[in-house]
Amino acid sequence: MTFSADQQVQPKNGQERYRIAVVPGDGIGTEVTASALQVINHVADKYNFSCIFDHKPWGCEFFQSSGAMMPEDGLTQLSSADAILLGAVGHPDVADHVSLWGLLIPIRRAFSQYVNLRPVRLFPGISSPLRQVPPSGLDFVIVRENTEGEYSQVGGRFSSGIRDEMAIQESIFTRAGCERVIRYAFDLALKRRKTLTVATKSNGITHTMPFWDEIASEVAENYPDVEWRLMHIDALAAKFVLDPGSLDVVVASNLFGDILSDLGAALAGSIGIAPSANLNPDGTFPSMFEPVHGSAPDIVGLGIANPIGAIWSASMMLDHLGQPEAAQAITEALMTATAVSSSRTADIGGTASTADVTTAVLDIISGRP
Ligand code: NAI
Ligand code: MG
Repeated sequence: MTFSADQQVQPKNGQERYRIAVVPGDGIGTEVTASALQVINHVADKYNFSCIFDHKPWGCEFFQSSGAMMPEDGLTQLSSADAILLGAVGHPDVADHVSLWGLLIPIRRAFSQYVNLRPVRLFPGISSPLRQVPPSGLDFVIVRENTEGEYSQVGGRFSSGIRDEMAIQESIFTRAGCERVIRYAFDLALKRRKTLTVATKSNGITHTMPFWDEIASEVAENYPDVEWRLMHIDALAAKFVLDPGSLDVVVASNLFGDILSDLGAALAGSIGIAPSANLNPDGTFPSMFEPVHGSAPDIVGLGIANPIGAIWSASMMLDHLGQPEAAQAITEALMTATAVSSSRTADIGGTASTADVTTAVLDIISGRP
């Protein structure tokens, strides 16, 4: 059982209380998660809600001592949480497919977190590697399909170890899986600038992608107010670089969404600031919030990891839990912080430590000069 019975009782004053399962994971995952938790506690006081954090020491160290990335009943333990906050997983001594498929992917799939939401925004004071950024800046959202598509375990090796060996990896596109994520993207576009780009590659991939396009056209019929277009992934990658101002909501299959979101994060100045939400929009299971970056073994322990991706992910979590004001206070504080050079970490051209940035964000939220 994850949360004890008394922890599930609502506090007397009617304050909302959320049960958050926290999986800091590996490397800088633990460093940036600590920052995010400080910020959550701080806004909770201010906006009159509280959180109970249930720490799960899972990840590669856990794997090295137990042989698994999480306990056998790990998913059951997480299932009673209102949300999951994750740092990053990955260690040079553990194969990446083991760490990914042992923790992140099982959570995303078991909890039907079929939307991976990745906003891209250029914060004040951060320079984009693009020579010309549109006057309105960068502000778009990538909706990545998160449970099927190209990331499937279907396939295998044939004639392993001999000269003619081969490998086959199948993509899985289901009607229900495509429909629900595309519908989510149209709904999101309605709340934003009413423009949707659907990533495809139906010229080269002749079964799954025409199917995906067909479903997009069908779903689009229910959204006459949204202007939408299909765009081949190669042209869309170029569009990200040459005309990112034309993007509002972008929906993509698992692999394409994965690649586009790293490109988006790079355009916004650093992978260290990119947040993500793995959403189960139906609310049947907890959703999971995590920075886009990995465990960054090259900077672990130096205290210089940028905590913004993790803090922004925490803000998305609070928004999802029904605390939009607290969520907005956090994102506004992040933007105020990056505008000042003394609260920028090395990845965005500064010399601040993780702790400096965290303190700056806390001070801004408190209104301290
Ligand atoms: P990475 O994101 O960990 O690091 C890429 C580069 O960006 C490194 O130079 C790193 O120092 C820098 N960086 C990343 N986050 C930063 C931050 N917050 N502040 C400052 N600099 C930051 O990706 P990489 O090197 O490909 O993978 C390292 C490990 O992380 C691998 O084991 C990989 O499998 C895992 N990984 C895990 C992810 C997850 O948990 N969701 C996502 C991506 C990678
Ligand atoms: Mg990625």
